[in-house]
Parts: sequence; structure tokens; C-alpha cells
Amino acid sequence: MAGIAWVLGGGSGIGAELVKQLSARGWTVAISGRRTEPLDALKASHGAHPYPLDVTDAEACREVTVRIASDLGRIDLVVFSVAAWDVTKPGVYEYEKFAAMMDTNVLGAMRVLDPVIGQMRRQGAGEIAIVASVAGYFGLPRAAAYSSGKAALISLAQTMRTELAPENISVRIVCPGFVKTDLTAKNDFPMPFLMEAEDAGKRIADGLLDTKKFEIAFPLRFVLILKTIRLLPYPLFFALMSRLIRQS
Ligand SMILES: NC(=O)c1ccc[n+]([C@@H]2O[C@H](COP(=O)([O-])OP(=O)(O)OC[C@H]3O[C@@H](n4cnc5c(N)ncnc54)[C@H](OP(=O)(O)O)[C@@H]3O)[C@@H](O)[C@H]2O)c1
Repeated sequence: MAGIAWVLGGGSGIGAELVKQLSARGWTVAISGRRTEPLDALKASHGAHPYPLDVTDAEACREVTVRIASDLGRIDLVVFSVAAWDVTKPGVYEYEKFAAMMDTNVLGAMRVLDPVIGQMRRQGAGEIAIVASVAGYFGLPRAAAYSSGKAALISLAQTMRTELAPENISVRIVCPGFVKTDLTAKNDFPMPFLMEAEDAGKRIADGLLDTKKFEIAFPLRFVLILKTIRLLPYPLFFALMSRLIRQS
């Protein structure tokens, strides 16, 4: 059944494709991101409701949550599809780079979800989907800040799912493999099973609207390979990671 959705990171890439899918299926969609132009373009093309927002600003996150609920009546579904991404050099763990990425990718989610959960409690129901990544399944070389932040989001969603279920608030995690977007355009390494953003947006919409699964992960073959690696005994796991880093 269609309702009111809020897609953060909805101006571009996977988020924008999801906005198009939700709009086509009759949802009213609020969209956020820092840049206004892509939000306005989606307003013109798909009737989305732009709410420019920087998720590193806690007060703005609270204020926009209240404004969307007041303008559109309620918030049935929130999708956090925001991220900062940069390759981290092996062996280099610069605090400033870590702090910036965690501030957007992990704390950004909390700045939004805290007021959103308050709103959903008042409504008596709601759905939350956090876009993490298969990069959060284990500690990936060359992605120390991104990979550990995505692992934190997966763990956070697991905790929230358990704790919020009795309040009729459903929490899910989305773990895409490599998707062609601005985020991956700067990658200088091979991206196995790379898929189009449109395909990713459709798979997320199908997962959210047609199933109740906790995890929406794709493409299946890549997900199975990575989940198998996660199960390897540590000596084998680290031997494989060393090979990977030598090849990259
Ligand atoms: N592409 C992939 O291969 C891939 C794979 C797995 C998971 N993911 C995840 O999918 C999600 C979407 O990424 P994408 O690939 O679609 O890349 P994208 O097009 O770059 O989307 C990221 C979005 O985050 C927004 N954003 C960044 N910092 C923000 C901030 N401080 N406040 C508010 N919005 C902010 C950006 O909008 P503004 O710049 O306008 O703020 C942008 O719309 C991310 O969580 C990413 O980690 C992507």
C-alpha cells in the first residue's frame, strides 16, 4: 500500500532511482541531500518534494523531520541512502578522514533516525531502511573507514530491528554490491558484478514493498561469495585479503 516516504540521498544514484520507483508505485516522496539542483530536477520529473538537508547538522535533521511530517501528514517509510566514500590508503588511518566519513555515514543516520523514530512512535508505526553495503560484511582492504562504517550500520540495524519491533517500527538493511553511480565513478579498481543504478533502485523497491525481509542484498552471486568469505577461518581469510591487496 502506498504512503509517505522520505529518501535521504534521494537526489542522485541509487536513492534517485528508488525515488522514481516509489513515485511510479503511487508513493508521495520527500527527498533530501545537500545540493538543491538534483532535488529540484526530481521534483520536476517525478513530483518529489525537496527538503535540502546536510545530515551532519543535528538541528536541521530534527527540523526537517518535523516539517515533512507536518507538510505531508506522516512519514511511513524512511530510506537513508547517504554516504561519503573515498579510498583509504593501506596502512594510513588519518583521523580527519575517518571522522568525516563516520560523521556522514554513521552519525548522519543517527541524527535522522532519532527524530524519525519519535515521529513513528507518535504515528504508532513506520518502516526504516538503512542503505549499508556488502562492504560492511567484513573489513575490506583500502576501505577502512567506509567498510567499518557500513559494518556499524548493519549492526545498528540489527539492534534496532529487535528493539523497535514491539512498537510496530520495522527496520531493514540494504546491502548492494557495486552499482554505477557518482560514488563509484572515481574507483580505480575492478568492480565485479557492477550493476546499473536503475536496476538497484528497482531491486530495493521490490524488496521494501513486496517482502518483509530484514536484509535486501544483491546481486545474489556476489553476496553469496562475500558471505562465504566471512565464514572462512581467520588464517584463510587473511591469506585471501593479502592476495587481494597485492592485486589491487
Ligand atoms: N554505488 C555503489 O556501488 C554502492 C554499493 C553499496 C552501497 N552503496 C550505498 O548506496 C548509498 C547511495 O550511494 P550512491 O552509490 O547512490 O552514490 P551517490 O549518488 O553519491 O549518493 C550519495 C548521496 O548522499 C548524499 N549525501 C552525501 N553527503 C551528505 C550529507 N552530508 N547530507 C545529506 N546528504 C548527503 C548525496 O547528495 P549531496 O551530495 O547533494 O548531499 C548523494 O545524493 C550510499 O549509502 C552508498 O554507501 C553504494
